[in-house]
Amino acid sequence: MDNIINFGYLIAITFFVMGIKKLGRVKTAKQGNTLAAWGMFFAVVLTVVNMDIVTWDQVIGFAFVGAAIGIYASRTVAMTGMPQLVALFNGFGGLASALVAVSYFFQNFSNPASAIVDLGGSGSMIVVFITILIGAVTLTGSYIAFAKLDGRMNGSPIVFKGQHFLNAVIFVLILGFIIMTSSGSYPVDSTNLYIFIGLTLILGIAITIPIGGADMPVVIALLNSYSGMAASAAGFILLMDGNIGGTILIVSGALVGASGLILTNIMCVAMNRSLFSVMLGGFGQEGGTASAGGEQIQYKPVGSEESAMIFEAAEKVVIVPGYGMAVAQAQHNVRELMEELEKKGVNVQFAIHPVAGRMPGHMNVLLAEANVPYEKLIEMDDINPQFPETDVVLVIGANDVVNPGAQTDPNSPIAGMPVLEVWKSKTVIVNKRGRGVGYAGIENELFGKDNTLMLFGDGKQMIIELTNELKEL
Ligand code: TAP
Repeated sequence: MDNIINFGYLIAITFFVMGIKKLGRVKTAKQGNTLAAWGMFFAVVLTVVNMDIVTWDQVIGFAFVGAAIGIYASRTVAMTGMPQLVALFNGFGGLASALVAVSYFFQNFSNPASAIVDLGGSGSMIVVFITILIGAVTLTGSYIAFAKLDGRMNGSPIVFKGQHFLNAVIFVLILGFIIMTSSGSYPVDSTNLYIFIGLTLILGIAITIPIGGADMPVVIALLNSYSGMAASAAGFILLMDGNIGGTILIVSGALVGASGLILTNIMCVAMNRSLFSVMLGGFGQEGGTASAGGEQIQYKPVGSEESAMIFEAAEKVVIVPGYGMAVAQAQHNVRELMEELEKKGVNVQFAIHPVAGRMPGHMNVLLAEANVPYEKLIEMDDINPQFPETDVVLVIGANDVVNPGAQTDPNSPIAGMPVLEVWKSKTVIVNKRGRGVGYAGIENELFGKDNTLMLFGDGKQMIIELTNELKEL
C-alpha cells in the first residue's frame, strides 16, 4: 500500500513540476495552473485514503467549506487586489505548518505532570521549533503585508529609533531558545513554548512594519518562499511521525520555497535593489510630488486633439503602461485606442518593464484581461533597441520605469535600474495627472526633454478623449 501511495505522490509531484514549467509562458500558463491544481487534488485524495485521522464526512465537509471560500475569494477579488489575496493565502500556509509543529510537540509530551518535553532527540526538536518560527513569521508578516496593501493600515514604512536593534534582540532570543532547548540545557514546557510562539509572531510583525507598501510585492514573494520552507519543514515532522505523506509536503514546499526565492531575486534585480535594503525598509514612501530640490522641470502640455494628430501621422507607436494605468483601470480603453490606431494603419506594440506597476506581471495581466494579444507585449530587452525607429511613444501612468536618471544620475535611488529608453524615440507623449512622483519618489527629467509632451489628466479619461479625437480625424 505504501508503495502505491508513494507512486501516486510521485505523479502529483510531476504534475506540480510540469505546472510550474508551463506557468513560465503566457500561452501555456492557464494549462500549467490546471495541471498543478490536479496534482494538488491527487495529493489530497491520496493523503486522505492513506490516513485514518479523519472520517470521510469530515473530509467532504471541510473540502466544501474550503473550496467555497477559495472560489468566492478568487472570483470576487479585483485584479489590483491580487497581491493582498496572495499575502493572505501565504499567511494561512504558514499557520498550517506551525500548527502541525505545535500538535507534534503536544503529542510527544512524555511527562505531562512535569510538563517537560522529550521530543526524541535534539534533531527533531530543532525541526519543530524552526517550523514554528518560519510558520509564525509567515503568518503575521503576511497579515501586515495584506493590511498595508489593502489600505487597512497605513502603507508608509513604520520606523523608529533602535528598531533594527530591537529586531536583532528578538531574533537572538529566538535563536538562543532553539539552541538551549535542543542541546538539553533548558527544559521546554508549555509555558516556554507559548513564549517562544509569541516571540516568533512578534518577529513577523517587527520585520514587516518598516517596509513601505510599494516594496510589499517583494516581501510577499519572500513570505511565499517562507511558507514553502515552513511546509517543507512540516513535511519532515510528519515523516518523523512515520507518515509517508511528509514526502510530498517536503517536495512541494521546496518547490514553493525555491520559486518564491527566484521571484524575489528577479524583482530585486529589476529594481536594482538588494534584498537586504528592501528588508531594512524605510524606502518607498508614496504620495509626494516632484520638486527635486533644484529647479522645477519645465513641462510642455499637449491636448488630446493635438496628440491625436501626432498619432495619426505616425507609422510605429509603442505604448508604455505603468502603475497609473492600473490605478485608472484604463486597460480596456487602451485596447480600444490600439484598435483605432491599427485601423489607421499604425503599427502598435506595448513595451513591458518587468517591474512596471506593483506586482510581477501586473501589466501583462491587465492587458490580457483587456484582450490585447500577447504577441504585442514586448519585453524591455527586445523593445529598447527599437525606440530610435519609433515615431511616437505613449507613456500611460509610468514614471520610474522610463526615468533616464537611472542611467545618468549615479546618486539616484534607482541608479543602475534597467529602464525603457523611450526618450530615444522621435516623440514621447506622457499621460499622468500632474506632478506626482512614482514609487521611488523622485523627479523624472524625461518629462522636461525637448521631444516630450505632457498629456495631463486621469489615464482612463484621457485615453477615451484621445480615441474619440482619432475617430474624428
Ligand atoms: P510609478 O513610477 O509608480 O509611477 C506611476 C505614475 O502614475 C505616477 O507618477 C502618477 O503620477 C501616475 N498616475 C497615478 N494615477 C494615475 C491615473 N489615474 N492616471 C494617470 N496617471 C496616474 O510607476 P511605474 O513606472 O509603473 O514603476 C513601478 C515602480 O514600482 C518602480 O519603481 C518599481 O521598482 C516599483 N515596484 C514594482 C514592483 C513590481 S513587482 N511591479 C514591486 C515593487 C515595487 P501622477 O500622480 O502625476 O498622476
